[in-house]
Amino acid sequence: MASLPEGDIPPTDGLLPEQAREGAAAKDFGVYIHVPFCTVRCGYCDFNTYTPGELPEVSPEDYPERVFQELDFAAGVLDASGVPKREVQTVFIGGGTPTLLAPSRLGQMLRRVDTLWGMSPRAEVTVEANPDTLDAQRLVELAAQGVTRVSVGVQSFVPHVLSTLDRTHNPGSVPDVIRAASDAGLQVSLDLIYGTPGESSADWQESLDRALELEPDHISAYSLIVEPGTALARRIRRGELEAIDEDTQASFYEQADETFRDAGYEWYEVSNWSHTSEGLSRHNLSYWLGSDWWGIGPGAHSHIGGVRWWNVKHPRAYADRVKAGHSPALGREVLDEHTRWVEMVMLGLRTRQGLAIDSLTDHYPPAGAILHEALDAGWLQPEAFTAGRVELSLKGRLLADGLSARLTGG
Ligand SMILES: C[S@@+](CC[C@H](N)C(=O)[O-])C[C@H]1O[C@@H](n2cnc3c(N)ncnc32)[C@H](O)[C@@H]1O
Ligand code: SF4
Repeated sequence: MASLPEGDIPPTDGLLPEQAREGAAAKDFGVYIHVPFCTVRCGYCDFNTYTPGELPEVSPEDYPERVFQELDFAAGVLDASGVPKREVQTVFIGGGTPTLLAPSRLGQMLRRVDTLWGMSPRAEVTVEANPDTLDAQRLVELAAQGVTRVSVGVQSFVPHVLSTLDRTHNPGSVPDVIRAASDAGLQVSLDLIYGTPGESSADWQESLDRALELEPDHISAYSLIVEPGTALARRIRRGELEAIDEDTQASFYEQADETFRDAGYEWYEVSNWSHTSEGLSRHNLSYWLGSDWWGIGPGAHSHIGGVRWWNVKHPRAYADRVKAGHSPALGREVLDEHTRWVEMVMLGLRTRQGLAIDSLTDHYPPAGAILHEALDAGWLQPEAFTAGRVELSLKGRLLADGLSARLTGG
């Protein structure tokens, strides 16, 4: 997240090249809306988000107007570029902390999406939230505005771990929030982080057990990434905190997977587990399976038919561009066939759905020998392999990125 990739400079009118139309009619279309505000910045977080003191010139009150402007702009660009109009299958309002905005403001964004493209009757609409921005009334209001799913950043249930992460919420209030979300008819996902400095295997087990007691529909568990330039990285550098080593992180992952499996949750992407097939995140799956989406907001990324672009990162620069009716895109690239294949392998290998062996060997014949080596090393599921598919074993999931780099000649 620290810096945006370099690419071609996109035109101010945002018009997309011809490739954007390719196969569009057969692909799902989704919308991501970024809300770049947080009350405090957690010491480990490198996302494009700002506290009020850091961003005096862009107010959360005015921000929805910018979102409406970019949504209108997006619909105009897709239309003028000849991309067929599709109903929206998924919306993800992420951040930052979207629940710092009133539910009615988030609802206005959803209605604008519906007016511009039409929202599928079975659309998945997710809002990310910190536990201390939710209560029973707010959850009912979110559901009334068309939200179908909340993704709650719980991270840990252990006070010393939460304190190292600079999380401000009281873990004791999380069960009430989760129950209230289910009572409001919302699907519930919990985010957990493992490998925080000072976290023991018993601490991690406590978080896993407490999370499972709440019976969420979905759980994401991420290994803590020490992002350069964050307060956490500085504390580790100064020797105030000791980073957890890779082997311990790997054993925490195995501990999580075993605990989730025993409770009836199956992995469907390396960091994501779900109780039922309805519980999985259709929006995130659409990223991993190469669908089309438009990302609204500062720093947001978009992908339409092999054309990818990213918006300017700073909310002030973003607001200036959308107010002027210009594209907020900073850079763009048209992915060639080889790059699209590499991305399909990198993302597809991380999913339970995996990849067809032929899709690898047809593009890169040495992949055949690498796959047999991986099978012998216990990184792949033998039954799936016999059926012509590559699906990672538990051990393989820990090595997913290195394996996909080798399978694509990297
Ligand atoms: C950017 S936050 C947005 C949601 C909300 N603001 C929150 O923190 O609960 C989404 C998720 O990203 C994950 N995350 C952020 N920084 C991370 C890091 N350095 N390492 C691992 N996970 C991280 C956290 O699990 C968090 O729940
Ligand atoms: S609340 Fe979420 S988005 Fe905001 S700083 Fe913390 S982890 Fe990052």
